[in-house]
Amino acid sequence: MVKVLFVCLGNICRSPMAEFVFRDMVSKRGLADRFYIASAATSSEELGNPVHYGTTGKLKEYGISTKGKYAVQLKKRDYSEYDYILGMEERNIRGINRIFGSDPEHKVSMLLDFTERPRDIADPWYTGNFDKTYDDILEGCEGFLNYLISGNHLK
Ligand code: 4NP
Repeated sequence: MVKVLFVCLGNICRSPMAEFVFRDMVSKRGLADRFYIASAATSSEELGNPVHYGTTGKLKEYGISTKGKYAVQLKKRDYSEYDYILGMEERNIRGINRIFGSDPEHKVSMLLDFTERPRDIADPWYTGNFDKTYDDILEGCEGFLNYLISGNHLK
């Protein structure tokens, strides 16, 4: 089983969107039982809060529900629990490194590192543009799944 943790600043906009888009993607490919997928925040700002309506509204267009998801914070022990810890932007990577201290097994990267154009996923909390967030996250999740499949990293 491949364990994947998506991480953003608040765990209410981008990382839950990535969590539920990726879940939907692997389940449609018949791979759901090969994965454990979750998401977490680097900050404590939104802990316990439900997913932002911008994310739930966008995912509803694709029939994807985020029911039951509430923001949780990244913990130091998550490092050993997960195989891939995927931040949305450089700022998240700094936050992740602050919590983990180091990344000896090179588990930490940015979601869009798995695409042909590595870059930050802008924070829709500030931009208000959840359409752009969705497009970037879909591209990242597709790139990441292709990496796992083509590189024979599924276990
Ligand atoms: P996210 O967006 O990191 O994509 O969940 C944010 C949500 C909340 C805050 C910042 C970013 N905040 O400062 O509360």
